[in-house]
Amino acid sequence: MRILLAFFLAAAPVFSAPNTAVESRIQKILNRMTLSEKLGQLQQLGGPIEGSSQLMDLARHGKIGATLNVRGAKNLNALQRAAVEGSRLKIPILFGFDVIHGYRTIFPIPLAMASSWDPSLIEKVSRLAAQEATLDGLRWTFSPMVDITRDPRWGRVAEGAGEDPFLGAAMARAYVRGYQGENLSAPDSLAACAKHWVGYGAAEGGRDYSTTEISERTLREIYFPPFKAALDAGALTLMSAFNDLDGVPSSANPFTLTKVLRGEWKFPGFVVSDSNAISELIQHGIAANGAEAAQRALTAGVDMEMHSRLYEENLPTLIKSGLVAQSTVDEAVRRILRVKIALGLFKQPYADETRTSHTPDAAARKMARWAAVRSMVLLKNDGKTLPFSKNLKRVAVIGPLANDTAAELGSWIGNGRLEETITLLAGVRAALPNAKVIFASGCAMSGDSDAGFAKAVRAAQSSDAVVLALGEAGDMTGEATSRAFLNLPGPQINLAKAVLAVGKPTAVVLLNGRPLTLSTLTQRAPAILEAWQPGTEAGNAIADILFGNASPGGKLPMTFPFTLGQVPLYYNHKNTGRPAKDDDHYTSKYIDAPVTPLFPFGWGLSYTSTRLSNLTLSPQKITPDQKTIVHVFVENTGNRLGDEVVELYIRRRAASVTRPVAELKGFQRVTLKPGEKRQLKFDLGPKELGFYGLDMKYAVEPGEYEITVGTSSVGGLTAPLSVSN
Ligand code: BGC
Repeated sequence: MRILLAFFLAAAPVFSAPNTAVESRIQKILNRMTLSEKLGQLQQLGGPIEGSSQLMDLARHGKIGATLNVRGAKNLNALQRAAVEGSRLKIPILFGFDVIHGYRTIFPIPLAMASSWDPSLIEKVSRLAAQEATLDGLRWTFSPMVDITRDPRWGRVAEGAGEDPFLGAAMARAYVRGYQGENLSAPDSLAACAKHWVGYGAAEGGRDYSTTEISERTLREIYFPPFKAALDAGALTLMSAFNDLDGVPSSANPFTLTKVLRGEWKFPGFVVSDSNAISELIQHGIAANGAEAAQRALTAGVDMEMHSRLYEENLPTLIKSGLVAQSTVDEAVRRILRVKIALGLFKQPYADETRTSHTPDAAARKMARWAAVRSMVLLKNDGKTLPFSKNLKRVAVIGPLANDTAAELGSWIGNGRLEETITLLAGVRAALPNAKVIFASGCAMSGDSDAGFAKAVRAAQSSDAVVLALGEAGDMTGEATSRAFLNLPGPQINLAKAVLAVGKPTAVVLLNGRPLTLSTLTQRAPAILEAWQPGTEAGNAIADILFGNASPGGKLPMTFPFTLGQVPLYYNHKNTGRPAKDDDHYTSKYIDAPVTPLFPFGWGLSYTSTRLSNLTLSPQKITPDQKTIVHVFVENTGNRLGDEVVELYIRRRAASVTRPVAELKGFQRVTLKPGEKRQLKFDLGPKELGFYGLDMKYAVEPGEYEITVGTSSVGGLTAPLSVSN
């Protein structure tokens, strides 16, 4: 018998569960609102306010509910004054902005933050980001992006937590807690917006904005969990995505926006459309004109319209003709007012103009440096090439990105400043004040010129060690940056070959925002550090690792394919009827490439070594509604302080539907002294063991489960778990 897990389906509403006093206050406001004022609340617009009276005018007439891209306490207060003192009903405006990985202090990109496998760190950095952003008058960020993605061609992989729903959910929770803080109405609480609901990361061909086809089971098991986690953590808002989802675009999809979000999950907050996503329903081909687009989006459950103004233009007629019910508009307004009340905007609509975000202070820089150190992944380290000695006399820093602040920050840099960013070159220089540090860029990021190679080779020849910085330019990841190739752009691989041929101890430092195909580089380079786009303190953090002040301990949140043709390649794939076998031709593999990745999900080395032992489950037999406790020992068997991320996976071999070959269901990052041995404990219960069976109900099916605890998604210790009624 399958035990249904109702508690997992119907979560408690998050921020203040519908509270009668608040609801009656909202109703009173609604009773006084004209249709035009109601539609004003549904409108989000952006743009500069200096020299433009448009936003001011709209504010004065109660015709704008929220803004984006307007910043600065002074600017925003002026606009707020127009709304609160100048408009009839005095409803405050909600000020939004993309605070994605920091506001003034820029932290590693979200994909890098996920590589830290450290939710408490993410909570801390997003708290700091909220404090900085609210100083500039903002109260709403369009973050976290919790889209699961299995295709590194999609440039927005940089903005998410990678390919796994469990890791993604942990990160989603941490961002929301950090942004919103403990008290939503505190002036430094920044409302979170989980985006992009939903399936956007599954864009066909990895092409941004492209179509998606996702089964309901995969939606529920892979794409929904990070959103659910964000809402359970109290996220006030969601953003509806650009993608066509099985023929019904996400910004007009009643199944996802109403049935799941409001029906099953009881989400009390509001949904904002992505930028122009409502008017794009016309291009999608489900609306002949703006009126139809507005009707489809609003009735499906999109409450606020970003940029386009189709609600405002068309809803009066749509209501008059009965095509949209007045109650649908009222409900959308209600959700928006609920969020504004929760944020305390009616009580305190203004920001403190005497304070503004400022150049990162020592504490912010320390946090940025630590976050960057924690997020780096040591992919390869043959012969203990790293860490380098701090006593090196001459070091060559080579590569087109070694002195490039934009590459170190990545996309969506908020109010971050290039000039406040420490480059890799500056970081190495600061770490080795007595050494001669020679810099050669070697090549450009595009074209095929090798004109700079000779100088780079000479720099390598004359040095004791080489740091080779390669990767992607700052504008090669983020929105609308899909790539058809995943190699190092331009002549970088040839530069690497020339420099590595010199034979000096060389560490490649990768600055990039997505998994790349690195098989040639990996064959030749003795050491590779995946630094991602590390943010304001990039260079110092990289130097901390290169010269051994810190040991790397991050792990990959996304598979690195061996070659492009394997994509999409992800660890939690299905087994197929013919799993790959070397000695069996008719199995699921390639005739011209391996079927395995270059670096698997969960992979990462450190400067020490660890060993896992004594995996035990108690009890080993449970009923579907019970839990078992998994214990395992992890020991630092090397002679340096170091981190290990211990990862727990489950596998169900025979079930009512096919299951992935591995599913992450627990992880812990620990720091161990040399020789230190610690016992770790993981809970495994209905929430972790359940899945959507043949009947599409979430349940634990009796049967045999394999529990694997390892240090990546490959290998580890395994023990059986038996579930029976
Ligand atoms: C992006 C969103 C972003 C919005 C507002 C859109 O183009 O898809 O992620 O939050 O712009 O800047």
